[in-house]
Amino acid sequence: MNQAALHKLIASQKGEQGLEELFQLRLATNLTLIKDLFFSLYPEEHFSETFEKLLKKLPKLFKTRPEILKQQDIARLEKGNWYQSEKLVGTQLYVDHFSKDLNGLVEKLPYFEDLGINFLHLMPLTTRPKGENDGGYAVNSYDKIDKKYGTQKDFEKLTKQLREKEMYVMLDFVVNHTSNEYPWAKKAMAGNKKYQEYYYTYTDRKIPDEFEKNLPEIFPQTAPGNYTFVPEMNKWVMTCFNSYQWDLNYTNPEVFLEMLTNLVKLANLGVDVVRFDALAFLWKKMGTISQNLPEAHMLTSLFRMCLQVIAPGTILLAEAIVAPTNIIKYFGENSRTGNECELAYNASLMALLWNAIATKETLLLHKSITNIPQKPKDGTWINYIRCHDDIGLGLDDRFIHEMGWNPQEHRKFLLNYYCQKLAWSPAKGMLFMYNPKTGDGRITGSAASLLGLEKALEENDTALIDEAVAKIIMLHGIVLAFGGIPLIYAGDEIATLNDYSFLKNKTKKEDSRWVNRPYHDWGGVSNLKSKKTPQSKVFFTLKKLIALRKQLSVFADANNLFLHQTNNKHILVFERKKGESNGVLVICNFNTTAEVIDGSFLAKLGYLKNQEFKDLITAKKTKLNSGFLEIEPYQLLWVRKMS
Ligand code: GLC
Repeated sequence: MNQAALHKLIASQKGEQGLEELFQLRLATNLTLIKDLFFSLYPEEHFSETFEKLLKKLPKLFKTRPEILKQQDIARLEKGNWYQSEKLVGTQLYVDHFSKDLNGLVEKLPYFEDLGINFLHLMPLTTRPKGENDGGYAVNSYDKIDKKYGTQKDFEKLTKQLREKEMYVMLDFVVNHTSNEYPWAKKAMAGNKKYQEYYYTYTDRKIPDEFEKNLPEIFPQTAPGNYTFVPEMNKWVMTCFNSYQWDLNYTNPEVFLEMLTNLVKLANLGVDVVRFDALAFLWKKMGTISQNLPEAHMLTSLFRMCLQVIAPGTILLAEAIVAPTNIIKYFGENSRTGNECELAYNASLMALLWNAIATKETLLLHKSITNIPQKPKDGTWINYIRCHDDIGLGLDDRFIHEMGWNPQEHRKFLLNYYCQKLAWSPAKGMLFMYNPKTGDGRITGSAASLLGLEKALEENDTALIDEAVAKIIMLHGIVLAFGGIPLIYAGDEIATLNDYSFLKNKTKKEDSRWVNRPYHDWGGVSNLKSKKTPQSKVFFTLKKLIALRKQLSVFADANNLFLHQTNNKHILVFERKKGESNGVLVICNFNTTAEVIDGSFLAKLGYLKNQEFKDLITAKKTKLNSGFLEIEPYQLLWVRKMS
């Protein structure tokens, strides 16, 4: 939308009528694209009436948006890309593991304020099946808060508080599937044909078998195959994830219409960012792996274009944990398909960081990141070292080859390194969903355990404890500076170790991702100030880094990230730069011994004066050592440009 026209309109319009006019303006702006996308997915000769239904639905949905959120939408449009600010720092948590329930979370907000966190990704909160439910990713409803967390009112109380504190909240929109207890699934099971067509259901295995020839398995150990037989309806249903998660059939436009209503209901709860869960899977086509298909992009764009008309202050995060060159496409590739998501997970950086830790080398990271095309200027990354899920080895085989490594063997090495198959490795992770057919597997574990703290504490080895702490700080220091919203998994800020209690829970024990979803250690938190422990070292250093990040405007994302190659393969250097005089150089050493880089490297980039450089973290000026900058094992430096 034309910003100048918008500002003029906002200034001239007050009250309900003004908001209505702005809605009409947004609709007029997006209409051509909405129509084009809709008819590309659902041919006009069959679905012109359904399109009329969509057009009638948009104003109705707009009416359901609470007044306060409509006002907030306008304020955000005026403000521009709030999500690219250096002031944002996020965390992710399961409310029950963190604070028991929503009211508990309200009480814990000061903890985040103290640390500097102002963006919360709360794991699914809505109703779900009683037994296995994939941590709430099997949804029985898209907007009814599960009573174990509290009530709708409690959630509203939380979002009100968050708005007052200028904090943001992100919730999931499980857009690819519902649980088998969702009302549509129940009706389908009862024989209702209309709702059977909301999913991919088949009377025999003919089509499923054809699909299976190309479909990968997401959870091969616990949910092999991609179809489940449902005796109640005597049919097979497509279930790419778990057998109780039924894939929605988006070739049916009624599904899109109803899911749009669900999306708006979620946004109307006061959610600032909607995480589009598993969106790469939204469209299936026989003969393909049915991920990242052009239609999945169009569908995402269609959701976004409609949401922008109704709730323009709400933005989308792409949860596309796919190959590096495919992730970037979820920002939207061209004007034909329109924009898709404002945010995307930087899963490539995450995998590359874990690779750099295991290999102690940064070349693959450098090569891969510099080869990913520049993202659009209005998009930004969520940078993280791990989340509630497993760590997948989403590395580009081309570059692994270029390193002189065999991709399959290299992945095997990484799995062995992190999953306790190498006696010398400091990591204590678990193997997740190993597939003997393909040799693929993923890694689970908390940041601290994967980085060696658990083993070092068991062995009571002070040097290894210090090394693990340095690694935890270094990786967080990278994601805090990389550009985008950094997301720290709740508990990692206090170096929480793996939580093995899931093994005793019969609905969780098969899913080792629970090892990295620990209960928050409030006992540890209460001791932070009084005791000098790895926990307090990590906490207070991260707190300092967060505060520093917020003071440095170069850390706002303006596509101003520059990776530099030194002649030392253990060192990672990247720069955040704004103009000639404003810049920060991030320098890290991934090796277990001290490493050096030539001082002329710093001088050339303008970070050296009188043979001295200034590190912002320690606030110290340091002289070069015989013309070299020496970096301790796992040291993190944020060097300030010298003017
Ligand atoms: C996403 C979630 C993951 C879940 C899956 C299926 O990948 O992050 O936790 O299992 O979707 O909903």
